[in-house]
Amino acid sequence: MQTHSSRISGFHNLPMADRLAKLVDISGLTPDAAEHLANTGNLEAAIADSMIENAIGTMNIPLGVATNMIVDGRDVLIPMATEESSVVAAVCNAARQCRDSGGFVTSMSGSLMIAQIQLTQVPDPEFARLRILEQKAQIQQVCDDTDPVLLKHGGGFRDLEVRVLNEARGGAMVVTHLIVDTRDAMGANAVNSMAEAVAPLIAQWTGGRPYLRILSNLADRRLARARATWTLDAIGGEAVRDGIISAYEFAHIDPYRAATHNKGIMNGVSAVVLASGNDTRAVEAGAHAYAARSGQYRSLTHFEVDRDGNLVGTIEMPLAVGLVGGATKSHPTAQVVLDILGVDSADQLARVFAAVGLAQNFSALKALATTGIQKGHMALHAKNIAVMAGAVGAEIEAVARELIARGKVRVDIAEECLQQMRA
Ligand code: MEV
Repeated sequence: MQTHSSRISGFHNLPMADRLAKLVDISGLTPDAAEHLANTGNLEAAIADSMIENAIGTMNIPLGVATNMIVDGRDVLIPMATEESSVVAAVCNAARQCRDSGGFVTSMSGSLMIAQIQLTQVPDPEFARLRILEQKAQIQQVCDDTDPVLLKHGGGFRDLEVRVLNEARGGAMVVTHLIVDTRDAMGANAVNSMAEAVAPLIAQWTGGRPYLRILSNLADRRLARARATWTLDAIGGEAVRDGIISAYEFAHIDPYRAATHNKGIMNGVSAVVLASGNDTRAVEAGAHAYAARSGQYRSLTHFEVDRDGNLVGTIEMPLAVGLVGGATKSHPTAQVVLDILGVDSADQLARVFAAVGLAQNFSALKALATTGIQKGHMALHAKNIAVMAGAVGAEIEAVARELIARGKVRVDIAEECLQQMRA
């Protein structure tokens, strides 16, 4: 194993090309590897360099488009950035099977974000709580002065909440929530700035000591909802429906299953969140925290049988995403993705994302409850395996086809096929 010091003084001050040269030098990368990293594809080096610290290149992930989706009566094409082979196909399949029953119907609870201000060392927390609540008008003023642009777009401070939380080591902390309408922005910067502006005032009114001033990713006032109906004809009958319901019940009652179930949902959601240049980790943290809100981690979706015997599915999850700011604006691919989605508000964007999550989950549960996940997954994965075995160009498709025909999608078999083909 190569060893070298990770201490590279002034690395961040170097132009990106020099930074890469230095990295190549220190880690002993081959000229091919250096050339590979120097190719930033369709994300200009200057943009990549402006987005993060110490950028040395870009990392391409396939961008696919899921077809068949109808959301609120509108046909929508869904660009998805993912490295997992079966994710796009899953959305296409689920959407095809509910097209005849109208596709996905969505709604949103609002575009409210929460910023938290943690106040400690308050001897009289309940008294302090009321003192803070009394200052709502002034807090509103400070918040709105902090972000006049948001105000101009119809957003801004909406409400105030103050909670007294008991600390494990005794004592209490007083936690103030600023509830802010961030409109088409995800809003992290806006609400963080507001929390920082309000904190000194809270300290002054209460004599407490403020520490953290940051948004909550449990954006439970920004819930996106989607529902869809799958008829028995579309899904292949009662046994399939009942299998899906039973799979859902499993996730509802067992956190071990719920984690995997929700991971599948996030396969879809994160792929489209990433493609749109939004913050995948913020959405993921919110989703999982929301899934655990009852005290037990559960499914983000629900599946039931309606009075006509159809399978009906719903999803509800926090979806703090924006159309303005961050990578949504600076990343050229994200801009194209937003054009393909054809949405004109963050609200619409979040609703489409929720529909994608439900679609993904339907397909996963259907596969799991019937043939099992591996058949479809491995068929889609066969090309990956072919590449791993060294196939190039037309060989990739040929090897993948052979693997599927043999029913053995394995690297060793792919190598064998490749050798035979080349011979
Ligand atoms: C794999 O990435 C996702 C699934 O495991 C989801 C699920 O089990 O519901 C198939």
